[in-house]
Amino acid sequence: MSKPTISVTLTTNPKPRPDEKKLVFGKYYSDHMFIMDYDAGQGWHDARVVPYQNISLDPAAKVFHYGQTIFEGLKAYRTKDNRIVLFRPDQNWERLNKSNDRLSIPAVDPEVAMEALRTLIKVDHEWVPSEPGTSLYIRPFVIATEPQLGVAPSTKYMFMILLCPVGAYYAEGLNPVPIHVESEYVRAVKGGVGNAKTGGNYAASLKAQEGASEQGYSQVLWLDGVHRKYIEEVGSMNVFFKVNGTVITPALNGSILDGITRKSVLQLLRSWDVPVEERQISIDELVEAHRNGTLEEAFGTGTAAVISPVGALHYNNEKLVINNNKTGDLSSRVYDTITGIQSAVLPDPFGWVLE
Ligand code: COI
Repeated sequence: MSKPTISVTLTTNPKPRPDEKKLVFGKYYSDHMFIMDYDAGQGWHDARVVPYQNISLDPAAKVFHYGQTIFEGLKAYRTKDNRIVLFRPDQNWERLNKSNDRLSIPAVDPEVAMEALRTLIKVDHEWVPSEPGTSLYIRPFVIATEPQLGVAPSTKYMFMILLCPVGAYYAEGLNPVPIHVESEYVRAVKGGVGNAKTGGNYAASLKAQEGASEQGYSQVLWLDGVHRKYIEEVGSMNVFFKVNGTVITPALNGSILDGITRKSVLQLLRSWDVPVEERQISIDELVEAHRNGTLEEAFGTGTAAVISPVGALHYNNEKLVINNNKTGDLSSRVYDTITGIQSAVLPDPFGWVLE
């Protein structure tokens, strides 16, 4: 199914839009949403934009019991000359289908997904905010809807897209956050679903996150599930360390999410001739780098927060303060450049931004 017919039903009851100066992450939803159904034998069908509304599902729908679901996250920005641009949506559709494949969910045609998103944004264009630091967060997702309690792939699904005007993900913005190195729980293991964007990974992270915040830390640094030694991710973000001038990020090993901001940051750093390594990095190596003064910066990367500097790592009752708990020069430069390209304030030499 390419070049789909997408029906549009407009709301008769538009909502008041939130004050753009007071936007937080994930609280407000636009007037409309996109839905498309899947039935075995029929494939994806009934692509439609409808007023934002509750959906009705049988309580036996597989998504509720076995977590057969995936999601994506991307952003649209309003430019100074009042255009609406998207950041690397093609990458999201590619990853959506990798996640679909891992969760035994039928693929969604990227052209259909793109057309659906463009149609929805056109209808809800007034919901794309323009205040500095704001954007429209886009949440595509698929759920398994067949009411059948046998453990087997569903024969029915819904693909939906929601739009959400947002401000900063972390209240701290670009200020560094303190991080607890998690030694009890793990996020994922190789061969599992850590490299798929599926709800279970996030559900499994909550307990550790709760424990960290009780101790005054914003997030956890995840170690690998086998050796409990190698760095994986920070909270729900990929993670980068600047050690003695070289930027190191964990290699994609099957349990780490292939972040779109991660790959954009790598491309950007390489274009600046900053030495970059994608490899295993152990917590011991970081402790040693901190001890000898070469752990210069650390930051998380993700769609929601873009860049989130790490100000300190709490590990084995020790607090490793990084860059005097200040946002590092490289972290700031990366943040300014990526957000500048995203909102078309800066030129886009990589062809990342689409209308
Ligand atoms: C992101 O950083 O984009 C994420 O994946 C976080 C999201 C689950 C809110």
